[in-house]
Amino acid sequence: MKGINILSTGLALPGRRVTNDDMAAMVETSDEWISTRTGIRQRYFCAEGQAGWQLAAQAGARALENAGVSPHQIGVCLVATMTPAFATPSAACLVQRQLGLEESTLCFDINAACSGFVYALITARALLESSPKPYALVIGAEALSKVTDFTDRSTCVLFGDGAAAAVMELTDLPFAAVQGARGDDQALVCPGFGSAPQHLSMDGRAVFRFAVEVLPRCVDGVLEQSGLAMNDIDYVVCHQANKRIIDHVVRRAGADPAKFYMNMDRYGNTSAASIPLALEDMRAAGLLRPGMRLVCAGFGGGFTWGGVLVHWNVKGETVCD
Ligand code: COA
Repeated sequence: MKGINILSTGLALPGRRVTNDDMAAMVETSDEWISTRTGIRQRYFCAEGQAGWQLAAQAGARALENAGVSPHQIGVCLVATMTPAFATPSAACLVQRQLGLEESTLCFDINAACSGFVYALITARALLESSPKPYALVIGAEALSKVTDFTDRSTCVLFGDGAAAAVMELTDLPFAAVQGARGDDQALVCPGFGSAPQHLSMDGRAVFRFAVEVLPRCVDGVLEQSGLAMNDIDYVVCHQANKRIIDHVVRRAGADPAKFYMNMDRYGNTSAASIPLALEDMRAAGLLRPGMRLVCAGFGGGFTWGGVLVHWNVKGETVCD
């Protein structure tokens, strides 16, 4: 089975930066509580009238530019989101219009909560096998501030808005992925169209237990399936929900903590956007070199989880028309 090669990434953040001290002005909390329990120091919130799909389109445009790929070379456009502005049109259709992707592009949204980007990579890989075009645009985008209860200190300090995108193609290098779902409508519930809850609600402890159960399984599963050892992997990029959860995975794997990139301090938990936001930060910081092997691993509401092997810019150059 052909593997996943990500050529490049791009991001878009809403303009409103909110620090932990700003959150402490809204609810009874403190920078000390939030940063020691989660590793989060600030996040970004959408302005009034700003939608996740707009961020998705901006991130997608930047990823295409960074990859040197033109919109007409895209055969698949997926937006992973649990906070779409509409049930229809999908965010992916609005991205198609905004970026001028061809009408033959397969465009749809994926809702697998915080595992959405991993689910979308796995789905895009399969769809590219039968696509006449060589590239997929895979985006994670969230406007979580629109469903956040800003009177509930146990959830409102955790989440942030943002989007990031990846341009991917198939490679002859190996593919490995594990994924799963376990229906649960108690631990993490986000309002949908016509559903009763007004705001996102979460049983933090139940989600923490779930995360430390499945995240190591995602990483181990990808290694086992690919026949690779942790030493063969350059970076593990986990969903950026909470530093303590990732620290647990590091300890469990007996791995070098430097291999586990973290940036939740800057963005909070941006759900489906968190893994591509991490990839883009790593790219921009010069940490990613052509041919590197990454494991991306996510967990989230649903429950859902997934891990996938990603090859970074195997050809080592941007691809132009
Ligand atoms: N500021 C200050 N105190 C807070 C607070 C806040 N923002 N939120 C909760 N508290 C209080 C609680 O009221 C509780 O007080 P009490 O002991 O007087 O009742 C105390 O802190 C401990 O609450 P608890 O929920 O047990 O904290 P915790 O150590 O489990 O940490 C989370 C809470 C949310 C950080 C933690 O459960 C977590 O990270 N869960 C996973 C969440 C996650 O990753 N979700 C995304 C999934 S994709």
